Order: sequence, then structure tokens, then C-alpha cells
Amino acid sequence: MGSSGDNHDLGLVEMRRRMLIVGNWKMNGLIETARELTEDLLAGLAGRVGGALRCEVVLCPPATALQVVNQHLGGAAVKLGGQDLSEHEIGPHTGEICGIMLRNVGCWYVIVGHSERRANWGEENPRVARKMAAAFRDGLQPIVCVGETLDERDAGRALDVVREQLEALYPLLPSQTGKRQQLVVAYEPVWAIGTGRNATPGQIQEVHGFIRRNLLERLGDDGRKVRILYGGSVKAGNAADIFALEDVDGGLIGGASLKSSDFLAIIDAVPEKF
Ligand code: 13P
Repeated sequence: MGSSGDNHDLGLVEMRRRMLIVGNWKMNGLIETARELTEDLLAGLAGRVGGALRCEVVLCPPATALQVVNQHLGGAAVKLGGQDLSEHEIGPHTGEICGIMLRNVGCWYVIVGHSERRANWGEENPRVARKMAAAFRDGLQPIVCVGETLDERDAGRALDVVREQLEALYPLLPSQTGKRQQLVVAYEPVWAIGTGRNATPGQIQEVHGFIRRNLLERLGDDGRKVRILYGGSVKAGNAADIFALEDVDGGLIGGASLKSSDFLAIIDAVPEKF
């Protein structure tokens, strides 16, 4: 058992939104690299003022490296997350990993419905919603990804697509207020992922504001507590401008999370918002 266990009290909710920076390593990181990256990150963070983090930090290595990363994180403030989970419980599902297993190896969070899975593994809105529900059932906080393709944006459909992706989630959200507030939404415009092509602050705030209004409409006050992350070519150079936006509560970082100095610089870009 890693750092999972009693700490996973989904009933405990902070009164304000704490900024959250998540490193999605995607399919990168053999055991040795994962160990080194984790050690470098922890050393870098320890060197920050008093080692205090002004945001929550989560690492999502590939499944094969979860255990080694968890061992190195120990009781550190940095938390562990999975990149995907099965919608099913333990049983005959070859190749799948369920939420209980992620918890068992020390995860607190899990990414759900990343666009790379939506595009390549046929994960459509209903399945993404079932996976979100499975994450809650198994005591994990889901980070549900939404976002439009370039064609959809060019056709003026960006907000419609995001609305459909969000609306699919609500029927399967747990009813307990403490759990609902643990939902994390990540807006990742597909055309900005790994392309170096940045969404402008105006484009980002437009969609984040739209997501916030949708959450408030559907969840009432609980919607105010849900964190909305931005992802898509976030780098040290643009992170501060993005994190300063009103409805941005952190970032989901791909490529730049694979180099400790880049990831640390992004963490440093988190403003003292609250
Ligand atoms: P990049 O930061 O490499 O664009 O990836 C974003 C992403 O997909 C994070 O989940």
C-alpha cells in the first residue's frame, strides 16, 4: 500500500479553490527515468521557500511507473494520479486497470477522457461519464478532459462541443455535495496539444468562463468549488499569463512536465491568487 488510505477523505473540501498543477507524462518514462524525474522534482521543490507549495501538484506517470514514483514521493506533498481507468470493477477485463488498483498503488487522482483516448480508443461522452463515475466510486478524484478539435473550432462549434461533453457528465455525478466538488475539469483544445500552438488568453478565458457558468447552472454552489484546469502547450514562458486568468485554476501539462526544470518553472508561475 502506498500513500493511499485514510487520506482519501472526499468529504473534506476546502472552502476556496486551490490551484492545481498536473503533470501528464503520457506514454513516457521507463522506471529509471521516472525515478530520476521524481527525485529531481522533489529536490527542486524542497529548495523552494520553506519547501511550501502554493498549489497542489500531481504527477501522472504511465501505469508501469506508478509504483516507483509513489515510493519516491513517500509522504511528500506531491500526489500521484493515473492517466486512465477502467469503468469496471476488479474482474475479467484483460489489460484494464481499475480505480481500486490505482488507489492501491497510491493514486489520488485519475485523468479521464483525454482527447488522445477519445480520438484513438473511441472514448465517447457516455463512456467518459461512466469512467468519471467509476473514479468517484473508487475514491479517486477524476480530472475530466474536454475540448474541441480545430475543425470544430473553425466551424464555430467550440462551446457547443464543450457543453455536450459536460452535459454527459451530470447524470452520473455523485449526489453528495462533498464529492461533486471534487470534480476537476480540464479544458484542452485538441489543436493546442503538443503542437506548440497556443490558445490565446482570450480564447482560454472564453471557454473557462463558459464552463464555470455551466457548472454553476447545473450544480449550483458546488459548481463554484470545481476546479477548471487549462492544458495545451503550457510552458514556462506562457504559464503566468494563463494562470492569471479569472477562471483558470491550474494546468494539465504534457511535454513540459517531462523535464524537471520546465515543470518547476511552471509551478513557480502559479500566482498567489487566494
Ligand atoms: P502538451 O502540454 O504537451 O501540449 O500536452 C497537453 C496535454 O495533453 C496534457 O494532458
